[in-house]
Parts: sequence; C-alpha cells; structure tokens
Amino acid sequence: MELTIQQQLEKLEHKPTTSRSKTETFQLAQELLKKMTLAEKIGQMFQLAPPEANVEGLKWEHREENSSAKLICEGKVGSILSVTDSETIFKLQKLAVEQSRLGIPLFFAADMIHGCRTGFPINLAMACSFDPDLIERSCRQIAYEVAHTGLNLTFSPMVDLVRDPRWGRVMESNGEDPYLNSQLAAAYVRGYQQGDYSSAYSVAACCKHFVAYGAAEGGREYNTVDMSERELRQHYLSGYKACADAGVASFMTSFNIYDGVPATANKFILRDILRNEWQYDGFVISDYTSSYEMIDHRTARDAREVALQSIVAGLDHEMVSMTYLEHLEELVISGEVEESLIDEAVIHMLQFKYQIGLFDDPYKHLYADREQYMRLPETLNLAKEAALKSVVMLKNDNQTLPLAKQKQKIALIGPLADSNQVVGAWGSLARNEECVSLLSGMKSLIGGENILHTAGCDILGNNRDGFAQAIAVAKSADIIILAVGEDQSMSGEAKSRAYLNIPGVQNELAQALKALNKPLIVIVFSGRPLELGWYAENSDAILQAWFLGNESGSALASILFGDSNPSGKLAMSFPYTVGQIPVYYNQYNTGRPSPNGEYSEYRSCYIDVPNYPLYPFGYGLSYSKFEYMDLVIDKKVLAAAQQLTVSVKICNTSEISGEEVVQLYIKCKNFSVARPNRELKRFKRVMIPTNCSKIIEFTIDKSDLAYYNAEMKSTPENRDYIIYVGSDSNADLSAEFSYLS
Ligand code: NOJ
Repeated sequence: MELTIQQQLEKLEHKPTTSRSKTETFQLAQELLKKMTLAEKIGQMFQLAPPEANVEGLKWEHREENSSAKLICEGKVGSILSVTDSETIFKLQKLAVEQSRLGIPLFFAADMIHGCRTGFPINLAMACSFDPDLIERSCRQIAYEVAHTGLNLTFSPMVDLVRDPRWGRVMESNGEDPYLNSQLAAAYVRGYQQGDYSSAYSVAACCKHFVAYGAAEGGREYNTVDMSERELRQHYLSGYKACADAGVASFMTSFNIYDGVPATANKFILRDILRNEWQYDGFVISDYTSSYEMIDHRTARDAREVALQSIVAGLDHEMVSMTYLEHLEELVISGEVEESLIDEAVIHMLQFKYQIGLFDDPYKHLYADREQYMRLPETLNLAKEAALKSVVMLKNDNQTLPLAKQKQKIALIGPLADSNQVVGAWGSLARNEECVSLLSGMKSLIGGENILHTAGCDILGNNRDGFAQAIAVAKSADIIILAVGEDQSMSGEAKSRAYLNIPGVQNELAQALKALNKPLIVIVFSGRPLELGWYAENSDAILQAWFLGNESGSALASILFGDSNPSGKLAMSFPYTVGQIPVYYNQYNTGRPSPNGEYSEYRSCYIDVPNYPLYPFGYGLSYSKFEYMDLVIDKKVLAAAQQLTVSVKICNTSEISGEEVVQLYIKCKNFSVARPNRELKRFKRVMIPTNCSKIIEFTIDKSDLAYYNAEMKSTPENRDYIIYVGSDSNADLSAEFSYLS
C-alpha cells in the first residue's frame, strides 16, 4: 500500500549537505548543463506559483490552465513560489526529482520578511532599533524557522530607500537614510545566510527591489520612478550594494522603470551596474509578473519581445509570468537570442541549487512535525527584544511615563487597545491570534483590577456609538491610555494612501477624551509615519508602536510601566502634513534656504507649514536623560591615508539606566556638486547606567567623505567639513576639520 505524504515525511532521512565554493558549483553546473536540452534549460528559468501557492494580488491566468504537475514532470519549472506547507513542498519536489528526465530539484521561495512562524516587528520598526546586531540575530532565528519549513530562499531584505510615507511598502524598509539602510541590509544578509546557505540553519536571501522602487512618484504603488543617475548612485544604491557585498544569493528586479526602461529589462541596471561594476555572481529574479508588465509599460509589444528584452538585459529567472517558457526556445532557434545567454542564466540557477545543497538532499528540512522547531522560547525572547528596541517614544512631558504599577486607575481606550491584529503586513506564517494585545500585556504585568477598558470606536468608519462609554470609562480613571492608528492591512504592498491621518473617527475620540483634562498617553500603531500634529500638541506622552508582532503587548506594557526603557530612534521622518512630502533629513540646502526652516518670503519654504518634519530622522526619547559634551576630534586636517578619531562624552544624568543611539553626521561646507545638509556616517547603541558617563569613539576616513562629483566619480575632494554628534539628526554639538589629500 502506498504511504501517505505524511508517512513519507516521517520516514525521510536527511542527508548531509556539503558547502561548496563558487568554483566547484560552477564546474558542477557546467557538467549538468551539457546534459540539458534547450527546453530543459529554459525550464530552470521559471518560477511557478502553483494553485496551492499562497499568493495575493493579481491572479496569473496561466496558473490554472497549465497543470503544475505536468510542467514539473516535463522539466519546465525551476522553482516554486509561496508554497509553505511541508506536504505540498514534498509532493512537488518528489515530482521534480523522480519524474523529470534529469531529476533536477526545485527550490522553494517565499516572503519571510519579518519573521516566519514567530512574528517579529515590521522592518521599519526594527530599523528604528539602529541595531545591526539585533537584526542579524533576529534573522538567524527567522532563518531557522524558514529552513525548517522546508523553504530554501526568503524574499528579503527589502532595501528600497524610502522618503514617502504614502507608499505602503515603507513598512518593509529600513527607512530614509542610505548609511543606516546599508548597515542593516548587510546585517539581514549575514543573519539569514550565515556565510553558508547550505547549512541546516540558514536560508538564502534575496535583495529587492532592484532598483529604486522606493521612489515611486507620489508614493503611489507600482508607479513611475524618475531620478538622476547621481541621486541613484549617491543615495539609492547603497542598500543593494551592501547586500551584494555581503554575498546575497539573489536579486529581485522591481516593478518600476528606471530612466524609462523597466528594471526587469534594464541592461544598465542589471548588467552595467550589478554584474560589471559590482561583479555580482548570484542570480537575478523578476518580481511577480514584472516581466509581462512590460507590455503595459508599453516598452514591449508582446510577450515574445518581453522575453527577448529580459534575457538580453540579464534576467535569469522569471517569477510567475511565462514569457521565457513560451518564447525563448523559438527566439534561440530564430537566431535572435544567443544560446550562450541562456546558458549564462541557467548556470546561475544551477550553481544556486548546488550551493543550497539541493542535489545532496532535495528534501532538505522537510519534517513531518515542523511545529517543534517554531516559536522556540529563544525566538520569542528575541522577538520581544526586537519589539522593545523598535518602539519610539515621541513625547513624554513631565515624565508622564513610566507609569507606576499600582495606585492609579487606567482607562485603556481605542480600537487597538485590545487588538491582536499586530503581526503587520507580510506576516508570513505568524498568526494574529498568537500576538499579545496591549490589554493582555498590561494585565499580565500589573493585573486587571486597575485597568478599565473599552474600544470607543473602530479603526475605520464613522460609528461614534462607543464614545459615550469611552468618556464614562475615562472619567472614572486617573489617566487615559489611548491606542489608535491604522489597521495592519493599510500598509504593505498595494496600500498607498493619499492621506496620512489616523483614520476613521479616532481623532474625534481623542479630542473628546482630551476635553476631560486627564493625563493622556497615546500609543500609535501604524505601518508608516502618520500625521501626529494634534497628538504632539495635546497629549502628554506618545509611543510609536508600529506593528510589533507576537510580543507586541508584552513589550509595550514593559515600556509603559518602566520595566524597559524606550530606545528606538526614527528611521524615517514624521511629517506635519502630507503636503510636506518628501520631507527627509538629508535634503539639499537650495540657493534660497529659509532661515530655521520657517516661512520667509522668496525663500524655499511654504507659507503654511515649516520645512522641517514634526519628528526628524534619528529622533526618539528615553526615560534616561542623556547629555552630550566634550566633542573632540584628533586632528584639524585629515590626510588621505589617515583616520579621524571623534570622541564624545555622554552623561546619563537621570536615575534610570538606558540605551542611547549616538549618531554622527557630517556636513560638507561646499563641494563641486550640491550635497545634503547632513549625512549620517556612524551610529552606536550604548548602555549608559544611571548617573554615569561614557566616552564614545568613532573613526572616519576619506571614504566617509566621498561623494559623486560632477564627473560621477565618488571622491572626497579637498574641502572643509563639520561633524555633528548627538541623539538625532538635529544634533548641534559640532567640530570642524578639513580634508587635504
Ligand atoms: C510581489 C512583491 O513586490 C515582492 O516583494 C514579493 O517578493 C513577490 N510579490 C513575491 O511574493
């Protein structure tokens, strides 16, 4: 009698996988290539989303028409998208290995972006930790879960630089700064791949979306990107380059055009920059149907031309759309495409499969009971540490926070007060029902007697029926905690917003509560910076809680009651209003800068809102009080071969120990092309015990001063520089030096 899939999984014996060098995988791939027909080669260039795939969004018509089993058996599939249950992975892999002529295993890829079974905070939140080590450790744990799910590759990290919070995908990003982005990008790759994705605990990563997808005009999803090569090179490429340098296994092209040409068929991006300048030797995959969409970009007349343009530009693997499968063979036969281009792509794909160890064990990490590897105590602890470091305290007047655990009655109000819908978009296998809500986090910490809870209203809609109850509850309490924000489904892919207000009647509820004249603490849940002007003026304290994943409520409660000290810093500026966008810290000065960023006639400014944001990049408060002093640089003139050492003393003058993110910015006084007013160059997270001080040292060199000059060459030029050190991008402690090569 044939065994069920479950029984076969139980009987699986895992074979050891071998770590192989690039040279070895290249030779192995070449040997295999010799045995392949043209059609089999092209099959390796296709990623199928079978009907079992958990994909959202545009449905691809071919999915149902072509039986996935048939395609796999014919050797026409190279990898599988978004199948995450072990039984289906096993079933499909078995077909490939046992039924296709050459038995080449498939690889399995999915979006495990901020966690797998354990939900970590959304990426923008984790970026606020300014903690590459935390990101790396988190990704190691995430990789462990991803690998034990039977997946080989995660479509992460997303390193698109973002300056427009209307774009729903800012929640996946590392924020607005090129340096922070590149530091965190490399940490993601190190954590996932651990230097060897053949190992039992690691997983291959994919750097996306190449290129500049974060600059979609107006923050509108899938929209046009138009930027100068200078802007691209100077600010937007750093995250992708950091991934390439860290050895990321793959790159994903973006949906947008760059310089008029869709990224998926953009030779300048894929060949000139990625392959030639960066010497990248992993594989390049398109985004979901981004190749076929060239027909709608109207840069290709039909699917045949899409295939032609994409292979010439250097696209190795096509996600979901089937232009390669349907047209490449004929394009080779007609002589329009050299077979060597196909060989080049297939070598990349086969090398990857050898590197993962799929030829050693195609059923790598498939388990009958995988749940035993998920949500391990150490993973949940790390998710909590990540949540704690992601929270940004935006306001805390008169030390409203932390709260005492006893004595006062707390009214906990708002649609997000007892919501466990806090996994955030791209939650992969994490479950909302396993997330700790704010109310349950608070109850486990201080008990329930002093907490009075009511929602007051929904996140969306205009139902005010709960207001009276909320006001009654608030009246009988000493303080009000109001949990407001976006629904988690309002950010992520295809979730652009034109307004950045807290939706529904939540602001009205806040105003009604404010009228009671009680201390008002606001907790904002969102996947993007929102307009918080009213709250900044009218509340006593604000915590930006993002979507923190499994440990959301426990982390927030710990901060509210002082068991933990907030230490997150904004990775993205919070605008006063949507009309200021783009508003980011590293803007250019212009020829008519406005004094203090305020209104001044015939200066670059608005008549109705300042130039600066409500809360700037790098900003975030602590229960501790940190004072910066004694900024010292070790030389006034820096030579080409030298390093400049910068030291600063930070005193914690409070009775609370805390972590501070010390930030170093430079300003180049003048340069051959315009440079931003400030550029982040270093940061360090340090613990400073109560009533202690620490001296922090940074070193920088000429590479930190370099900028793309008029000839598009990155160079430091002999110029005067100012260093600023402090706790956010407005840091004012400064020192000056010159660079002389
Ligand atoms: C589309 C998204 O843009 C991309 O980020 C994701 O990896 C793919 N779909 C696959 O799910």
